Amino acid sequence: MQSPTNSFDKISPTAIMVAELRQFTDIPYSKEIAQLVNAQAVVEKLIENNLNRPVEVGVWLEGRYKSVNKLIGQATQIIELASGLQPRGMVMTENPDIIFIESDLPGILSQKQEIVKKLIGNRPNYHLIPINVTSDPSQFPLHANYLDTQKPVVITCEGLMMHLTFAEKQMVFKNIREMLEIYGGMWITPDLNDKVGLNKMRSFSPGLQNISRTTAEITGRNVDDYLFENPDHVKQFAQLQGFTIDSYNMLEIIDSLTCLEPLKIDVEIAKSMLANAFVSVLKLKNSNPNWV
Ligand SMILES: C[S@@+](CC[C@H](N)C(=O)[O-])C[C@H]1O[C@@H](n2cnc3c(N)ncnc32)[C@H](O)[C@@H]1O
Repeated sequence: MQSPTNSFDKISPTAIMVAELRQFTDIPYSKEIAQLVNAQAVVEKLIENNLNRPVEVGVWLEGRYKSVNKLIGQATQIIELASGLQPRGMVMTENPDIIFIESDLPGILSQKQEIVKKLIGNRPNYHLIPINVTSDPSQFPLHANYLDTQKPVVITCEGLMMHLTFAEKQMVFKNIREMLEIYGGMWITPDLNDKVGLNKMRSFSPGLQNISRTTAEITGRNVDDYLFENPDHVKQFAQLQGFTIDSYNMLEIIDSLTCLEPLKIDVEIAKSMLANAFVSVLKLKNSNPNWV
């Protein structure tokens, strides 16, 4: 049974929460986007409701954005799911050789389309399309005329999977599997969080300890109910859905973090957090080694 779309719509405001913190990084367009959506108002609302501002989450956000970019490498067909207000598509489509498909639920996507129009205008290699990632049948661009079936696709998502139940996660795996069966390629995501890793990160970060409570207030979904138990659980789940999985530690990008000074975060805390944060690279079990 599919979850009603409006249950996902409640997750969309978390995109503004992360856009607010992203403005304290050197990630292009972050400051402009935060201003355009009046992200400051979100913070004021949190304070008004006596909820803490999850400052150290800035480390995780910047870490995952830069780690995912590193793993995307030279790929030329990219699909970002649940992109929210993330600026990756605007940045990467400066290269006309890259085809970038960006997607989210229709409500936040139309807000993003307005932002893109204001900041960069139209680009023929940049496609913004609504996709509910859990939808059955799939809303993925399985046969889009702007994609080349002879080239692999890289699918990414950040900050999505932890909000989804296990049945919903399974639908996302199915929809991504269908896409990779046609194009080959891989799925890069920092979202397959488990209780062990996240609780370690939380032990270094008061902000992260409180973010579940804050997001549960906003979304009506408690992230802690949907976490994997441990890394083995993640691996088993991915394998059952037909994927191999490799993990990359985010500590590798520590030297490129720019949010520490503006958000007043101690570098040792940032190191401890990133040492427990991973990006997963998933490929189909039977994938052709020449695809990526
Ligand atoms: C925490 S935000 C992350 C946004 C963005 N990836 C980032 O890192 O800034 C979660 C995003 O998931 C999207 N989302 C939630 N449920 C979804 C669904 N079923 N299909 C597609 N997107 C969904 C929300 O609209 C929201 O933009």
